[in-house]
Amino acid sequence: MDFIELCQSRFSARSYTPQQVEREKLEYILEAARLAPSAVNFQPWSFLVIREEEGRSKVQECYHRDWFKSAPCYIIVCADHSQSWKRKIDGKDFADVDASIAIEHLCLAATSLGLGTCWVCNFDPEKLRTNFDIPANLEPIAILPVGYPITDPSEKQTNRSRKPITDIVRWEKF
Ligand SMILES: Cc1cc2nc3c(=O)[nH]c(=O)nc-3n(C[C@H](O)[C@H](O)[C@H](O)COP(=O)(O)O)c2cc1C
Repeated sequence: MDFIELCQSRFSARSYTPQQVEREKLEYILEAARLAPSAVNFQPWSFLVIREEEGRSKVQECYHRDWFKSAPCYIIVCADHSQSWKRKIDGKDFADVDASIAIEHLCLAATSLGLGTCWVCNFDPEKLRTNFDIPANLEPIAILPVGYPITDPSEKQTNRSRKPITDIVRWEKF
């Protein structure tokens, strides 16, 4: 599969089989995240993998969707504001940019293994912080459900259109 085919294959999976994800596959996708670039190579991120029942319930309390409960595994990706680069000229903190790059590495690596993922950001951050004792310097950026997707081709088509390239790319000037 070439890279564009991999990008085309990735989709937001919102239904999973109960089959647990093998630890080696999780280690593979976490390695892909570890290799992600970051501002000044500060690597301001942290990944919490949840597979056990108690933790899964605590994750599900933070995002109430039936489909979300079907995931056998979740990865909570946090940005570490105590380690991130802040641009001198205006103080912009790149923590969530860096974490987001790592998240997409996770998603694409998972796709390459036949696994499904979905970025979830519409969760209750304070509840998540409380449920997992997330330290103050860490900001949860996304919860990624990970599992073997039940691919419903019609669902896969929902809201997946992309803007034409001519609408988004300018060459040389705006
Ligand atoms: C930053 C970000 C936040 C998202 N948050 C959610 C979310 O909370 N719940 C959800 O179901 N999908 C979420 N999505 C998935 C998008 O809806 C999805 O990527 C988009 O519709 C394109 O579909 P595709 O991923 O299947 O290509 C999020 C995606 C991104 C990049």
